Amino acid sequence: MDPLPPNHHGDNNAKFGGPVGYVAALTMVVGRAGDGHLVAELAGVTASDRVLDIGCGPGTAARIAAATGATVTGIDPSQPMLDAARLLTRVRPPEGSIEWLQAGCEEIPSDDNTYSVCWSLASVHHWPDLDAGLREVRRVVKPGGTFIALEKRSPPDADGLASHGWTADQAERFALMLPDFGFADAQVQNHVRGRRKTVTVSARLHN
Ligand SMILES: C[S@@+](CC[C@H](N)C(=O)[O-])C[C@H]1O[C@@H](n2cnc3c(N)ncnc32)[C@H](O)[C@@H]1O
Repeated sequence: MDPLPPNHHGDNNAKFGGPVGYVAALTMVVGRAGDGHLVAELAGVTASDRVLDIGCGPGTAARIAAATGATVTGIDPSQPMLDAARLLTRVRPPEGSIEWLQAGCEEIPSDDNTYSVCWSLASVHHWPDLDAGLREVRRVVKPGGTFIALEKRSPPDADGLASHGWTADQAERFALMLPDFGFADAQVQNHVRGRRKTVTVSARLHN
């Protein structure tokens, strides 16, 4: 059997829309701050950055980036996720600015060469078309900019919720795709924070 691709849940996004989308958003409001701090540290986000969070969900990582004073855009195709993101941001406004836009990775509503940092947390495994998403990431990231994909680590035989992440093989295969989209120095790193085990694939867009 062929190994599963890095977007093995790309046809499984119905649960993010409609009334069930609000329940899904609620489940992602807690327990995500560690992932957000991790990518902010890896990218070295500062107030001078423009940050794009693709598949931002309720926006935890975007708010962590904005807390540094950075200018942040969070995109997600799911209206319930964006409703949750806007509500939570009104409750605790961060230092920097955040805009929330309804869009998928296949058509990012931003000009070319806009962002110094782009990340996607627990979302790439849901992208329906990896090539289309990566073409858009390349278009909107500035030369020299950073791209990070973070996923929960999954064992190869996982099913159900536990399969919503990447095996070591899926992370490696995603890293191998990046040079075709102009990215250099792709690095796969494993992380443990408390009980959460994640993997990141980071790379830099060629100058
Ligand atoms: C598991 S949630 C992760 C949310 C958030 N990044 C987090 O870590 O809390 C996956 C997110 O990917 C989004 N998503 C699904 N299809 C997408 C696409 N084509 N482009 C961008 N994001 C997508 C979903 O709507 C959902 O908000």
